Amino acid sequence: MSVYLDHAATTTVRPAALAALARAAERVGNPSSLHGAGRAARSTLEDARERIAAALGAEPAEVALTSGGCEADTLAVVGGYLAARAADPARRRVVTSAVEHAAVRGAGRAVAEVHGGTHVVAPVGPDGVLDVAALEAELAAHARETAVVSVMVANNETGAIQPVEAVVAAVRREAGNAVLVHADAVQAVGHVPVDFGASDLDALSLSGHKLGAPAGIGALLVQRTTPLAPVIHGSGQERGVRSGTVPVALAAALAVAIEEAVAELETEAARLAGLRDELERGVRASVPDVRVNAADARLPGFLHLTLPGADVDALLFALDSWGVQASAGAACHAGVTQPSEVMLAVGDDERLARSVLRLTLGWTSTATDVERALAVLPRAVERARAAGAVAARYAAG
Ligand SMILES: Cc1ncc(COP(=O)(O)O)c(C=O)c1O
Repeated sequence: MSVYLDHAATTTVRPAALAALARAAERVGNPSSLHGAGRAARSTLEDARERIAAALGAEPAEVALTSGGCEADTLAVVGGYLAARAADPARRRVVTSAVEHAAVRGAGRAVAEVHGGTHVVAPVGPDGVLDVAALEAELAAHARETAVVSVMVANNETGAIQPVEAVVAAVRREAGNAVLVHADAVQAVGHVPVDFGASDLDALSLSGHKLGAPAGIGALLVQRTTPLAPVIHGSGQERGVRSGTVPVALAAALAVAIEEAVAELETEAARLAGLRDELERGVRASVPDVRVNAADARLPGFLHLTLPGADVDALLFALDSWGVQASAGAACHAGVTQPSEVMLAVGDDERLARSVLRLTLGWTSTATDVERALAVLPRAVERARAAGAVAARYAAG
């Protein structure tokens, strides 16, 4: 059995979620139908909605189920922008941080390139954390033109915790309540406490497959009074903001996975941080010239490394062939890892931004996983650095 250290990409489905999925999937019924089978499906769906809401401090009516994180992010950013602009044509600015997931970055780009708005990218400091003062200055200068502000709760590459509370406060102070404030909590839910009701956020994204439900289900929590235009059109399910027949069985699985993840959060966070710290100590002791990113405030299961000189594709290949599955955290096109956008945003050059390794632990991780990873990591890095040196010689001609 190989060691799986890529839980931020997707994590193992929890047995209880799988059982809930199977139970609900056995029964026919569209929750929009009025007959008995439809009403039974509706009842399963509303039960799931209530449980999801209760676990995250939201009202059931605030849960709009989606296919996952990308869709929830797109709905918040593009749907929020379209609704704000319809109410007040001056509101055309969408502000995101420089380290958002591709879903939020892409939605910001679509606002600018497709919908006639402006996408403003707020900078981060050397620690990869949003520069709140820069955001404040942007908001103060454009209070009446801002439609949406979107800042993630925790970063998907480094795990860096972002100052979302300060963002909400800054938006309300500088630009008032007409701005939709959204947080992508896809990596955070189940790992750090999330209380939507207490947050004063307008909208928050989550995704099932990051916390033990199957892929294909997620949600946007959105306050009832927050204007939001649909980006998917159809029969008006999910309060009209997300048309499409809701996958009841997936919703049931999501409810169970969230409940379990939130119930275990405190003990799991401590356990994963302990394993992660063990892994980090081992890496520091056995791998020369390594930089640990976002070490000050990050998600408990995240260890993000910069390994100067390492060819990351060679590194991932070596690790995989020695039984350790990890990722660079950055996008891969045609088999070649691209420089990490997050590391470029913190000021690394392209070569350095390519030499990153993301090791992420999850609910199935054990001390043995850590031991086995540490047994091969130094050798894999050595090999990747040798490959990196060859590539650099070729590049130099
Ligand atoms: C921070 C963040 N946002 C959004 C997404 C997209 O979620 P999904 O894969 O459910 O579309 C991911 C997935 O990696 C993520 O890490």
